[in-house]
Amino acid sequence: MRDLFAELAELRAADLPVRGGTTWAYVYDSGSDSAHQVGARAYAEMLDVNGLDPTAFPSVVALENSVVGTAAALLGGGPGIFTSGGTESCLLAVKAARDSSPVRDPEIVLPVTAHPAFHKAAAYFGLRVVPVPVDGSFRASVDAVAGAVTDRTVLVVASAPSYPTGTVDPVPAIAAVAAERGVLCHVDACIGGWVLPFLPGAPPFDLSVPGVTSLSVDLHKYAYAPKGASVLLFRDRALRRTAWFAYAGWPGYPVLNPTMQSAKSAGPLAAAWAVLEHIGTEGFRALATDARSALLTLVKGVAAIDGLTVLGEPETTLLAVAGSPGVDVFVVADELRHRGFYTQVQLSLGDVPPTLHFSAHGVSPGTVDALVEALAGAVQAARARGPVVLSAATTAALAGAELSTLDEDGFVQLLSASGLSLADPEGRPSMAAVNKALDGLPVPAREALLTLFLSVLLTP
Ligand SMILES: Cc1ncc(COP(=O)(O)O)c(C=O)c1O
Repeated sequence: MRDLFAELAELRAADLPVRGGTTWAYVYDSGSDSAHQVGARAYAEMLDVNGLDPTAFPSVVALENSVVGTAAALLGGGPGIFTSGGTESCLLAVKAARDSSPVRDPEIVLPVTAHPAFHKAAAYFGLRVVPVPVDGSFRASVDAVAGAVTDRTVLVVASAPSYPTGTVDPVPAIAAVAAERGVLCHVDACIGGWVLPFLPGAPPFDLSVPGVTSLSVDLHKYAYAPKGASVLLFRDRALRRTAWFAYAGWPGYPVLNPTMQSAKSAGPLAAAWAVLEHIGTEGFRALATDARSALLTLVKGVAAIDGLTVLGEPETTLLAVAGSPGVDVFVVADELRHRGFYTQVQLSLGDVPPTLHFSAHGVSPGTVDALVEALAGAVQAARARGPVVLSAATTAALAGAELSTLDEDGFVQLLSASGLSLADPEGRPSMAAVNKALDGLPVPAREALLTLFLSVLLTP
């Protein structure tokens, strides 16, 4: 008989570890077995419950009221929506802003460090993005925000913090600019919202700040709930209603959706509820303190490594690290992986160099010293290997290709002509040359290649 679980385990063999503190992006590990088990059990027990209809499954209403209430109590109040993740929360914040305004050609004022979820929202819902720069500290420039607001602006966004550098935008000043112009202001606290309230001296950022009208916070990040859990809070119920969707004009069941999804498993909601109740306020305070202290240890460690620089002033649990001449962060990332630690690379944009991203979490104090040691070794190896120099074949293939019109066959030909490969001669993951090639391309060409990569990867 087939052993499906053995097959699953085999499939997962090449995945990054999701627990244990060696993966410094993508996953958030509290280090608490009991928190993990409570979440997993609640998820499984509510897996088949359908969150579509509150009259059919009143448990969903009770759980959502509890989870949203906990988030509101932590983050300055307001009614809210439980969503499937940060992206859905941001999408719905933008939809609410669009639908609560009479403006016909709506614009959204977006710092360049804001999460791509807002660009996705603008693309999906037909808004124009007005990008604003960050200042020397990588925080959104308040003057630039003020200058970007027009009569068509329906939403201004600030991040607490932004993912690329972990710096918190000046929320009170940006919200004041928005309020003065009668515009809504969303704070994207997807990644910092369950950390900042527990850090002494953290800057003000939540719904208690005058002018802030909505806020997103992901429970599947620093509230350590399984994936599929975020909350979008609003200043008031009228604004929340504009995020929803109702339809009763067909001969089927009346549709009333607070989220983008319609039928949905109650598993993520139940798991988030159970983890919030299990860990509790003091537990989250301890986890945030641990993650922050691991981050500070990492910052100190990085500062002592010749060849690496910390970007900006990391205020939460996130860190961006750039290389100095002779040390290519794309090579460092590969070398780090060979040493058993995993992180994300971030491509350059304008004056901002390519960086390595690190998110510290609850379990990180136990691994941060080993990470610093591995980083030092990775930098030494990267220096010895030297920065990636793209081969003549790669450069010629990229220069010769009409990237905007390439299809899947063309992409496969381009890959083979370029000689780029995702493994080194020893078969280990090797992304440095691919990242370097992507980094050198204009943004639309990067996006076209990434899309084709996925299209080739997903075969059927
Ligand atoms: C600030 C911020 N906003 C939004 C998101 C999107 O969240 P998700 O990946 O859960 O959709 C992220 C993800 O890291 C984030 O850091």
